[in-house]
Amino acid sequence: MAPQPNLQQNDRFRIHGGARLVGEVHVGGAKNSVLKLMAAALLAEGKSTIANVPAIADVEIMSDLLRRLGCTVIHEGSLLSIDVPKTPMHRADYDLVRKMRASINVLGPLVARIGRAEVALPGGDAIGSRGLDFHIKGLESLGASAHVEHGYVIAEAPNGLTGADIALDFPSVGATENLMTAAVLAQGVTTIENAAREPDLVDLGEFLISMGAKIEGLGSPVITITGVKELRPAHHVTVSDRIIAGTWAFAAAMTQGDITIHGARADHMEVMLEKLASAGAIITSTSDGVRVKMEQRPTAVDVATLPYPGFATDLLPFIIAMNSIADGNSLVTENVFESRFMFVNELSRLGAQVHVDGHHASIHGITELSGAPVEATDIRAGAGLVLAALVADGVTTVDGAFHVDRGYPEFAEQLRALGADVTRE
Ligand code: UD1
Repeated sequence: MAPQPNLQQNDRFRIHGGARLVGEVHVGGAKNSVLKLMAAALLAEGKSTIANVPAIADVEIMSDLLRRLGCTVIHEGSLLSIDVPKTPMHRADYDLVRKMRASINVLGPLVARIGRAEVALPGGDAIGSRGLDFHIKGLESLGASAHVEHGYVIAEAPNGLTGADIALDFPSVGATENLMTAAVLAQGVTTIENAAREPDLVDLGEFLISMGAKIEGLGSPVITITGVKELRPAHHVTVSDRIIAGTWAFAAAMTQGDITIHGARADHMEVMLEKLASAGAIITSTSDGVRVKMEQRPTAVDVATLPYPGFATDLLPFIIAMNSIADGNSLVTENVFESRFMFVNELSRLGAQVHVDGHHASIHGITELSGAPVEATDIRAGAGLVLAALVADGVTTVDGAFHVDRGYPEFAEQLRALGADVTRE
């Protein structure tokens, strides 16, 4: 059995601030990749296997969703096997989908493979409206009929899909993934312009290629897919989680610590590491990762989030938390989601001086935060509040630990191993 994530809804983290984090951590597979790899397994009858699977709650939710669709999913350590029937079921119900946005990724594979999908409108994190219009319009371009009815996206293509030229208004990760996983079985050639370039998307594309798909241009803004009749099951190793690696990098910088992050892919974190270097961190490559060391109070840095290769929106809480205790004033601009600043209300309870105006946050750095009870509103906000608590005077409690469990395996244990005073209660 895989290590079971702790799913207690009422759990909270209790942090006594002040420790300098020093030591080593190992980063596993990326949440935002593995969930998509799991959904893509639906494209081929038979048993696909995925390695380097993190022990997080979202993997359990996606496993349940795939079982509901008729698959046999077995999780052993960090290896997952997904045995897909000849004809999977087509309906993804609200009770599971509401827990996790990535459920929408079964849409493309199901329409492509069995000609019909009904997927409840997703829930997930409270970070913005997160439309599905690009997914729906794109599937229509591929010849499907798609509409929203009674809270479900219903897409049908009884005679199969046909390749098309699709231009996205914004390089949406989810829409690029859904359209790519639909187009692999379409008749003819599909191009996706203004495609997302995230490493997670490249990872998904590589899995599809090993299943027999014909895809060119992964990691560039134009992806070209030549449809094939059938795909076969495959084995894939999940790409390393650049957001978790980034979380540890910020933890080192904020606590004036020294953390060696094994498994981190520096080539997937370039802009972020440059920002940390500007803040004063000493960053060195190691044989299998990155070491981040900080010997001074961080210097405030301006940041604007952007689609990859820009500074990731998922790292926004960490840069705001760091700037709130940095030397100087800074401006942080969020360009991807509209409500990611909800986290700022909670950070302000710790004494941070942050003023939000539209999609800009201006931050006046102070020397120390002050411990208080706060609440996580999403995965990254939760992790960001824990990092802020590490540099707060006294005790902070962070309610809503289950949000953090969705994306971080054994977060409290790993923090303790680095010297932090963190418990779960
Ligand atoms: C994924 C990641 C999330 C990350 C985000 C951006 C997963 C499970 N989540 O989310 O952690 O923060 O990429 O890197 O992988 N949009 C539309 N219409 C659409 C689709 C998107 O307007 O049809 C908008 C969204 O509201 C948002 C922006 O496009 O403002 C980006 O969304 P998208 O890239 O699709 O994010 P996700 O795939 O949902």
